[in-house]
Amino acid sequence: MIPIITIDGPSGSGKGTIASLLAERLGWEVLDSGALYRLVGYAAGKSGIGFDQVDNLCEIARNMHVMFKGDQLFLDGEEVSRSIRTEVAGNAASKVAAIPEVRAALLEWQRSFAREPGLVADGRDMGSVVFPDADVKVFLTASAEERANRRHNQLKEKGISVSLRDLVRDIRERDERDQNRDVAPLIAPVAALEVESTSLSIDEVLEQVLGKVRTAFPDLCV
Ligand code: DC
Repeated sequence: MIPIITIDGPSGSGKGTIASLLAERLGWEVLDSGALYRLVGYAAGKSGIGFDQVDNLCEIARNMHVMFKGDQLFLDGEEVSRSIRTEVAGNAASKVAAIPEVRAALLEWQRSFAREPGLVADGRDMGSVVFPDADVKVFLTASAEERANRRHNQLKEKGISVSLRDLVRDIRERDERDQNRDVAPLIAPVAALEVESTSLSIDEVLEQVLGKVRTAFPDLCV
């Protein structure tokens, strides 16, 4: 059995940051499942495929050729690391992610990321659907305002100016869609460690998660 830690939560809750820091500390693989939905949304947009063309979207999900190379991500040979991180790509991802057939098409691929010595998987349904038997499950939250603020600062650092009010609105819309869809909605998995990170630093969140990891894997020195 390959050890698995899942980190779920809404957009901007810091899952990605905590997942990569944790994977680095442990020397484990990492799965950024949101990137897969973003890739489907991005590829669909590029080919002019609408969100109602379910068969075509599934074909993209099954056949897209993706390569992870360090921090870089390639889709059918094109470097898309930055293009899939835009707010537009995030919204497209959230829309394709609400389609059950697209989720089903990505399921086994996501599971194939589980490799020795272990996997840290981040997303919305990692602990509830994709890896229900994970050894450690974490559910990370923060207020919509705080998440929008974090995003605003990230974008500002990159020289991109976006209104904070628009970001709060987008985040709320995305939460609404991710939490209320019929299939694999965003929920805290049973027995997950819930961390409300609005007023916590990254180190404080990581320490709480490490506490749970140490209990689950007493032989690991982390
Ligand atoms: O984590 P993210 O913001 O990169 O995810 C983009 C969208 O993909 C998000 O709005 C919902 C969807 N998603 C999902 O439905 N299930 C996952 N496991 C990961 C992401």
